[in-house]
Amino acid sequence: MTAGLYPATRLRRLRRTKALRDLISETRLSVKDFIMPIFIKHGEGVKNPIASMPGLFQISIDNLEDEIKTITALGITNVLLFGIPAEKDALGKDSYSENGIVQSAIPVIKKLAPDLLITSDICFCEYTDHGHCGVMLENGDLHNDKTLELLVKQAVSHAKAGTDIIAPSGMMDGMVHAIRQGLDQAGFTHLPILSYAVKYSSSLYGPFRLAAEGAPKFGDRSTHLMDIANSNEALRECALDIAEGADMLMVKPAHAYLDIISRVKQAYPALPLGAYHTSAEFAMIKAAAQNGWINEKNVTLEILTAMKRAGADFIVTYSAKEAAGWLRE
Ligand code: PBG
Ligand code: ZN
Repeated sequence: MTAGLYPATRLRRLRRTKALRDLISETRLSVKDFIMPIFIKHGEGVKNPIASMPGLFQISIDNLEDEIKTITALGITNVLLFGIPAEKDALGKDSYSENGIVQSAIPVIKKLAPDLLITSDICFCEYTDHGHCGVMLENGDLHNDKTLELLVKQAVSHAKAGTDIIAPSGMMDGMVHAIRQGLDQAGFTHLPILSYAVKYSSSLYGPFRLAAEGAPKFGDRSTHLMDIANSNEALRECALDIAEGADMLMVKPAHAYLDIISRVKQAYPALPLGAYHTSAEFAMIKAAAQNGWINEKNVTLEILTAMKRAGADFIVTYSAKEAAGWLRE
């Protein structure tokens, strides 16, 4: 460095105090960025701890009140609902039944907290006995267009129950188009679609399987989810979903896919982008924290901040409640 330049270029000047650092902070994490997932289980009086996801529970509808009160008291404004039905079958009928587990929970939540925004995860894997994300053919193939028909039924049933956002997560080709048409025809032109546009065939969803009581009984999801090695293809997925009418996009997983979040945001800055901090990404933090190897609060907030810095506008995270509390401290 030349003698003349040196005194003028002191970056440490702007790092001197916390207030100064806060003033020039480029990324701010807020409780309003978070969507908290909830696992709703059939039955009564259920509040089962999920072993693979410390701090999370399967909760029955009659036990939702405490959970919803806690969530709203923390300032959380968004939840994402998953259902564990009484019975699973080949077609996942509970997922599109008027009396399905999530369809029954939505009005209860709306009554408890009218301003809490509800997102419905739209897929079949929690509802099918084979654990796959749609209609299975005898040869073990997932039938794309038969699945679309049932996806539309599922989305419309959630709309009728009063959900606020429809979030298809199964990566069927044409799912956004089919659901948009179905919603519009049923009179739900006002409901936005948050597409899991870029969902990878990842091993980072493992702990969710205990939570939702469902893993594929055979095979895997590599014929419909994206190959973990691909990045350009993510932009193709987004382009198609946008053309089909997606209002918002999601990248999943998030922590290991910050590069994808960044590329998608740069390619499509005008679309709100979500990041899905998955169950295994959450569980890894928990496990290290329980061993005393990391500072859970600092690590969690650092990782969530990184997702926003990469370009996410909001984050689905199982840490939402804890993070909301930490942000208040
Ligand atoms: C599919 C769905 C899953 C998750 C959100 N939507 C399960 C899956 O893709 O296997 C959660 C993934 C996670 O948190 O690990 N219904
Ligand atoms: Zn699925």
